[in-house]
Amino acid sequence: MPKPEVKLHYKNVMADVIGDEHGITPEQLKDLAQTTAPLIQQLNKERQNGETPYRDLPYSSEIAQQVEELVEELGGRCENLVVFGIGGSALGNIALQTALNPYMHNIDENQRTGPRLFVFDNVDPPQLVSFLDWLGDKLEKTIFNAISKSGWTAETAVQFTIVRQLLLDKLGPDDCKKQIITTTDANQGILRRIANNAGFKSLIVPEDIGGRFSVLSAVGLFSAAMCGIDIDSLLEGARDMDARVKCEDFYRNPAAVNAAINYHFYNRGKRISVMMPYSYHLKDLSDWYRQLWAESLGKKEDLTGNEVHIGPTPVKALGTTDQHSQVQLYREGPNDKLFTFLQVRNFDRDIKIGPAPNYAQELGFLAGKDLSELLNNEKKATEYALLESKRPCLTVIFDRVNAYTVGQFIYLYEVTTSFAGALFNINPYDQPAVELGKEATFALMGKGGYENLTQEIQSFTDVDEDFLV
Ligand code: PA5
Repeated sequence: MPKPEVKLHYKNVMADVIGDEHGITPEQLKDLAQTTAPLIQQLNKERQNGETPYRDLPYSSEIAQQVEELVEELGGRCENLVVFGIGGSALGNIALQTALNPYMHNIDENQRTGPRLFVFDNVDPPQLVSFLDWLGDKLEKTIFNAISKSGWTAETAVQFTIVRQLLLDKLGPDDCKKQIITTTDANQGILRRIANNAGFKSLIVPEDIGGRFSVLSAVGLFSAAMCGIDIDSLLEGARDMDARVKCEDFYRNPAAVNAAINYHFYNRGKRISVMMPYSYHLKDLSDWYRQLWAESLGKKEDLTGNEVHIGPTPVKALGTTDQHSQVQLYREGPNDKLFTFLQVRNFDRDIKIGPAPNYAQELGFLAGKDLSELLNNEKKATEYALLESKRPCLTVIFDRVNAYTVGQFIYLYEVTTSFAGALFNINPYDQPAVELGKEATFALMGKGGYENLTQEIQSFTDVDEDFLV
């Protein structure tokens, strides 16, 4: 049986479909191919030189083995897995769980093959307290995985300290140790120091891989494998996509084509990029994409130090839900968006639409059809409506949703981001603007050495009664 694939369909961005003013003409596509083709070689070379280590994650049998050994050791005694992390240390975990486990995974034990999963990527007090109330006396059957690449992120650090204290109080130091797994840098950061001192079991975030490119490392793989996701297939999917995205023929390279099209539209005033899955399972992949795209491409300076303030704005939407909240704007508002639908050809589970009651025969035309037929036709209907309004639409088609295709998608979008970075001539791998916010938080929370910054921030952020209405 052929392997299920993920493919990019780009016909509906072309001028033939939506006209010369808004679509890409064949000449423009040729220009894009000429601009992008040398970047394929450039990226391949950077990868060979070890400059983009995320590209090699799907080949690391060492990481997969470490993860699988730990899962083997813990799996039997873990009923709840709690991930503490934020940004790239959480969004991939959430996306994998939503994509690859049943909707009722946490609720219905007959539908899950691993522990319940809870990912906390915020420091919202009522949320955490409510959860800890529920957790009550289940601590011994709960594993906490604190993930932080830098080891310094305030949100993750405080979640960790709250739970550590709880475990110490309820279980004592020896058992506390058994319930915590840290995932962090091998050598640096406060979380590493804590793990080493306390003797927590620990997984490693490989060097030089930013959070948003780390889902295929222990960061994303541990919670996935614990919860019954086939990480070998996930990595295989990524490897098979790698073969396609390193292809030096532009027209056969989906990441190069995808990035070039996004770049083209950004330069023609379509600076908002909407990703709209028509699949609940895929909905958090668009959240993961939103971070990847925003943090990687939103940059003040280009590679030569010019101030450029560049970056498309990624927006997530969900079909059909957001047809009823966003599509009015998308069709009749400003033509400043590129749409990317995610569509599933074959759903693993489906259900027939029931017969219409005798007194509501107007619904009879739906009776007996598969629910997936309705969902996919709604996608077509929305796409048609957008095209009719001359809005460019891409579609990423999943033959089906499984670990193998999700691995392909993740790798496709990571490499698309690298291509987009090269086209925009910016560094997609840093996030200096996020770092300032982290430092400002330290300052406001009273960390030593940040006194001047604290004062500066307060002059901006203290509530001024004169402006309070
Ligand atoms: O992509 C990134 O690098 C960021 O979003 C980080 O993942 C996020 O800020 C969390 O950082 P850390 O993993 O160091 O706690």
